Amino acid sequence: MHLPSGTGSVWMFLLFVLLDRQWEAVSGQLSYSVSEEVNLGTVVGNIAKDLNINVQDLESRMFQIVSGSKRKYLEVNLKTGVLYVNERIDREELCGDESQCSLSVEAVINNPLKLYRIEINILDVNDNSPSFLSKSQIINITESTAAGARFPLHPSHDADVGKNTVNSYKLSHNEYFSLVDSQKGESVSPELVLQKVLDREKQSVVRLTLTAVDGGSPAKSGSIIIIVNVLDSNDNAPVFSQTLYKTSVYENVKIGTSIITLNATDLDAGLNGQVSYSFSDVGRGKQTDLFAIDEKTGAVTNKKNIDFEENNAFEIRVQASDGASSPLTSHAKLLIEVLDVNDHAPEISVTSLLNTVKEDTSIGTAIALVSVLDKDGGKNGMVTCKISNNVPFKLDSNYKNYYSLVVDGPLDRESASEYNISITATDEGSPPLSSTSVITVHVSDVNDNKPLFTETTINVYVKENSPVGAVIKTVSAFDADIDQNSQVRFSFLHDNSNSLPLSTMVNINSETGDIISLQSFNYEELKTFQFKVQATDSGVPPLSSNVTVNVFILDENDNSPAVLAPYSEHGSVNSENIPYSAEAGYFVAKIRAVDADSGYNALLSYHLSEPKGNNLFRIGTSTGEIRTKRRMSDNDLKTHPLLVLVSDNGEPSLSATVSIDVVVVESTADIQTQFRHVPIKEESFSDLNLYLLIAIVSVSVVFLLSLISLIAVKCHRTDGSFSRYSAPMITTHPDGSWSYSKATQQYDVCFSSDTLKSDVVVFPGPFPPVDAELISINGGDTFTRTQTLPNTDKVGHILQ
Ligand SMILES: *[C@@H]1O[C@H](CO)[C@@H](O)[C@H](O)[C@H]1NC(C)=O
Ligand SMILES: *[C@@H]1O[C@H](CO)[C@@H](O)[C@H](O)[C@H]1NC(C)=O
Repeated sequence: MHLPSGTGSVWMFLLFVLLDRQWEAVSGQLSYSVSEEVNLGTVVGNIAKDLNINVQDLESRMFQIVSGSKRKYLEVNLKTGVLYVNERIDREELCGDESQCSLSVEAVINNPLKLYRIEINILDVNDNSPSFLSKSQIINITESTAAGARFPLHPSHDADVGKNTVNSYKLSHNEYFSLVDSQKGESVSPELVLQKVLDREKQSVVRLTLTAVDGGSPAKSGSIIIIVNVLDSNDNAPVFSQTLYKTSVYENVKIGTSIITLNATDLDAGLNGQVSYSFSDVGRGKQTDLFAIDEKTGAVTNKKNIDFEENNAFEIRVQASDGASSPLTSHAKLLIEVLDVNDHAPEISVTSLLNTVKEDTSIGTAIALVSVLDKDGGKNGMVTCKISNNVPFKLDSNYKNYYSLVVDGPLDRESASEYNISITATDEGSPPLSSTSVITVHVSDVNDNKPLFTETTINVYVKENSPVGAVIKTVSAFDADIDQNSQVRFSFLHDNSNSLPLSTMVNINSETGDIISLQSFNYEELKTFQFKVQATDSGVPPLSSNVTVNVFILDENDNSPAVLAPYSEHGSVNSENIPYSAEAGYFVAKIRAVDADSGYNALLSYHLSEPKGNNLFRIGTSTGEIRTKRRMSDNDLKTHPLLVLVSDNGEPSLSATVSIDVVVVESTADIQTQFRHVPIKEESFSDLNLYLLIAIVSVSVVFLLSLISLIAVKCHRTDGSFSRYSAPMITTHPDGSWSYSKATQQYDVCFSSDTLKSDVVVFPGPFPPVDAELISINGGDTFTRTQTLPNTDKVGHILQ
């Protein structure tokens, strides 16, 4: 409530203020009571009434309140005479801790001047809360402190007095402490009492609130926060997060790789809670040589290479201890599993069963045992084995990782004498590793090849009269086997069809194959012979083969022509008569001669010389017919001694001579008989030597014809066609005189009495090769003998 303030210049009146029952007479003293902290304008009392002053006069008599202090706590409403509170009144400010507090002012009034003393008791109001010196109090208590211990707390203060001051304390709810009040003189000072042993690890700080309450109504309170720090004592061992740690690591990880980090916690603080790690079984073996543990972090690393193949798991005991002077420890187990890495190639080992394998070894024969080993585990250690293709061997699996190498195909040393069999083992790792081992298998020889002659038939040409002991041929044979299986020895193969004593003719060197003549052959006796040579190797059992050797004796001009009857050779004198009237060309005589040789060596020519004559006669060079050249005249002699030279065509030429005395007679009757033996027909064959020459020239033509005829014969096997193509063929060679006809199954050969020699042979089969000179009868191992037939000078053969 505010009163009008326009009362500044009023006169002061001295009044008697009567205050209810405390009125004091004339002394002029008034006394009021008012509570502190009342609102401004609060009426303390009606001073005009109490001083018994007329209200209307207050203003005019300049009534006013005078106080000693600068502050004007009280004022009077001059209109109503009411004393009211003009300023805030704080008892605690005015009087502090004084239990009685009063305010003295004076009231002055003029006309007449009067002075009144007014005392105002200030009544305490509970307007102050209990307070503490600080907002919080810190108390440190070791966790192991026994229950019952006491800890003094800061007391609280309340500015109020009397019952408005601190009356009691209260502690916030907690399980550890209770509160006791302890009297210290007059003031009450609270103390904490420990009810239960503290556990820092459970609660390291206990926060309490201490509240002080005063006795005012309503009561006021103040509080302080009490912070109880629980100090550590080493009452906890480190504890591992797990009792069993399991981890795995690949083998061959780099040294220093972190494998696992152990974790142990110690609830204690400071050194008491500082955990250090170690292996608890250090020195117990390899495991802890391999690994290291970081004392501080608990990280486990490897100090060395870890090899799965050496150890595939480790069990290590680990220990954690705290840092107290007498540390507490705890233990755990660490299992490290080592994981395999495919770091080992398979290893192949081969046990050879046979050093060499015979080429006739049967399929399925085991020649080696193969085993493979892979140190890795799991798939890394699973191995498959293969061998190279294209070899006649295979791997048979006996049981896991054991194999036998067996023969799987025919072996032939002659085509492959050794095999390099590569065995490859591959594991199933990723990536797979493999290794290869090469086995060399030597194939040993078995006598499975016969010696083979280079030719199927061997033709040997030997001059007659050759020296005895000459090597006429060297046969050779090849045997594909080796060593003694290929050592060939030669021998004659005797068979019954051979009627000649071979042992008298040739010999053979069993080592070299040299065939040596034991005779100086005579062509005129033996033109050809045949034998077989056998080559035998030294294997067990030996193998052999044979070859047919045809020996052809070549003619040499070793026979002189022989003059046939009726004329005889030089020495005896032959004579012929001719009539004087003989015409030119008159036949005088025919000289016949033979030569045991053949071919040119037997091709005879006749020459005439008239030692004393006058060129009356001539002789057919090839026919040997002596005829007159001209008619006789009287001047001619009666007797003509003629010398006929018969020479062969050999080189050098051999010759014979015959002497004939031709006697000229008057009558023809004397010579009649001498013509009888000259056949007319002979004239047509008079010049057989000419035929022979023609034959020589036309050999190739005739042979061509014979080829054609062969074809024809093959096509038409009738007699008619035979005769058609069976033109006589005469061939003559420098080394002999041979003739043959076209081939037929059946062949008849005729030679007339005129034939000098015959070596006509029949082929039973197809036509022989172009240069074939051998003609054998019945295809057997035969030879032919020369047949020398007298009384003809014809050389050659007539074939029908
Ligand atoms: C087998 O191997 C050896 C040695 O490497 C070699 O001399 C030989 O020629 C090989 N044989 C075959 C048949 O490859
Ligand atoms: C000679 O060889 C032939 C063929 O090689 C054979 O048929 C024959 O039986 C052999 N003769 C002898 C007597 O061994």
